[in-house]
Amino acid sequence: MEKNEAIKDGQVISRREMIVGAGALAVGAAVARLGLTDAVAKELPAKYPYVKLDPEEIGERAYQSWYKGFCSYAVADAILGTLQDRVGEPYTALPILNMSKWGYGGGVGWGTMCGCLIGTGIVTGVIAGQEGEAIFNEVIHWYSENELPAYNPKNPKLAGFTPVRTKSDSPLCHISTNRWTKKSGFVKLTPQRKDRCARLVAETAMQTAMQLNDWADGKFKKKHEFQLAIFGTTTQSNCMDCHGTNVPKVPR
Ligand code: HEC
Repeated sequence: MEKNEAIKDGQVISRREMIVGAGALAVGAAVARLGLTDAVAKELPAKYPYVKLDPEEIGERAYQSWYKGFCSYAVADAILGTLQDRVGEPYTALPILNMSKWGYGGGVGWGTMCGCLIGTGIVTGVIAGQEGEAIFNEVIHWYSENELPAYNPKNPKLAGFTPVRTKSDSPLCHISTNRWTKKSGFVKLTPQRKDRCARLVAETAMQTAMQLNDWADGKFKKKHEFQLAIFGTTTQSNCMDCHGTNVPKVPR
């Protein structure tokens, strides 16, 4: 296959066809899915200028923004909104609410990827383009592998409430939320359950800002390979949660 060709629906097509046929965003998604970094990465639009952010400030803004537009918006608003204030153009042209709010509840409530991670993907994509994917990957690992939330807001909405912490082992909203509700006992959509999400989201926004700051300093380290390279298929890592002890082998 030539360098300026790619595979779509099993057929080799030229890069020109991909761009003309699909539009830049769809091409970006197709590239990510097929792992065709070389062929089309250069076609991703120029990165947005980044200035280093104060993680504490980002956390507080994300916490408050959760109460305005939920998880995905909260991360996007905390980071991209702060950059709108700090840098101005081109960030000011971004319709932050419209481009991110739909991620709530793991995609309008479908419980797939946790909305704060969807927000992170939007943010790292806008700011760091192709390089943003490795940053996003690290934040997904961090989210899945840590006991969260540990973040304490400066101006908490619920006085005297400190949520228990749980490890999701998964980036899925459904698993993350319900592991927490089970352990905490807040099984209904109570104010406590909402506040746990707001804190978790704040902490994820902070983690994202810290990774982006490292990246801006040239200190970002990719610690994990991408899932496709590790498992040979698109997957989360917690195979046994769904398959039990009988995890099927991925055909190679
Ligand atoms: C969120 C739940 C979930 C997780 C996590 C998960 N799987 Fe699956 N997987 C499924 C479901 C559901 C199917 C479809 C099974 C079916 O229809 O019989 C499936 C199918 C498969 C299949 C093909 C069908 C088969 O039985 O041969 C393979 C291979 C597989 N999974 C491997 C893995 C591996 C390896 C991991 C971890 C790296 C993993 N899965 C993680 C839910 C999950």
